[in-house]
Amino acid sequence: MTTMIPPSYKISAGQQVDVGAGCLARLPEWLQSVGSCRPLLIIDSFFAYHETGKAIIRQIHAEAELHVIEAPQGEPKMASLEDMLITARSVSCDAVIGIGGGSVLDSAKIIGICLGADKPVAHYEMVKNPLPTHTVPRAMIPTTAGTGSEASSTNILALANGQKGWVWGPETKPDMVFLDAELLLSLPHNLTIWTGMDAIIHAFESAVNKFTHAGAQFYAYHALHLAATALPRCVDDSNDAAARQDMLLASYYAGRSLDMCSASLAHWMSHAIAGITPVPHGLATALSFEICLPHLLAANPSAGEAAARAFGADSAVALPDYLTQFFARIGLERKLPDNFSMVTADDIFIALQTPETESIRLSCPVYPDDALARRYAHALAALCQ
Ligand SMILES: [Fe+2]
Repeated sequence: MTTMIPPSYKISAGQQVDVGAGCLARLPEWLQSVGSCRPLLIIDSFFAYHETGKAIIRQIHAEAELHVIEAPQGEPKMASLEDMLITARSVSCDAVIGIGGGSVLDSAKIIGICLGADKPVAHYEMVKNPLPTHTVPRAMIPTTAGTGSEASSTNILALANGQKGWVWGPETKPDMVFLDAELLLSLPHNLTIWTGMDAIIHAFESAVNKFTHAGAQFYAYHALHLAATALPRCVDDSNDAAARQDMLLASYYAGRSLDMCSASLAHWMSHAIAGITPVPHGLATALSFEICLPHLLAANPSAGEAAARAFGADSAVALPDYLTQFFARIGLERKLPDNFSMVTADDIFIALQTPETESIRLSCPVYPDDALARRYAHALAALCQ
């Protein structure tokens, strides 16, 4: 009798992670431990003027020569990243800290790794060239619970042609992460919903796609289990620190799973439509997820069943209805922003064919053909009115 040898896989190395309400107060201690006296802080422009943000800036200033860059709103653009990198080099910073949502953390991770050499950011876009292997110490502090950027090798940016692109590599992952629930207590209602759904979909897609494995599913299932109750609690009471902490952890675990196995169809669709006109990533991904969920479940039934149960559904068959009820529970509105009012199904179908999104499309165990892409384009176009 022969025994089937199970496939091998790698569980990505973790960072040091400090978890707990108020843990950001230990950031100066970390800077001291890595010998930094000229840190660079890349911070969300809203958070820079938030009481907690101002307090941490004061605290670092007291002990080090801190340089602060307020990151522009939205997805980082190549030109603004190149400007940030020039500034970072001009102040000879010896550590990089990122405080903000996914876009800010992606910016800080890109600047941090680029400081390891003398090349511009564009040198590394779309894995054109190997990243530096050594650079300054980096700490990332999320102020949303969704992208999991702090755990991820992927860093999204807007390419010079306006399409979504990325700087990718495990070298971009930070050395230190602070998951501090206090930073999320002021997170606006819609952002809580959209970013929370992003985390849930990272977990689900990485648990069912072509590259999934038991090492990643461990994190994905736990993320789904945590988020299923934590996100509704965050929506009910934005000051529920325990719920915020659970969502931060869910987002981090989902980020780790995503980092090992990649995303799938919902991210293919949301990245494609973001190339047409700006849209909050979590909203676009949530709306796409509901549309493509039957295909995802059919493509990998056993993993879909386990992921559905981890999320709290009775079975994979029950998951689409369960998701509809979950959307109603958290108050997610099924509508793309007003700037999509002139976008047609043809526009979306064309966007779904862009080479930049093909790698995510390929991650589905059953390739979504053009007939399916056409159906998805029509379903998304119906949400543009
Ligand atoms: Fe995402």
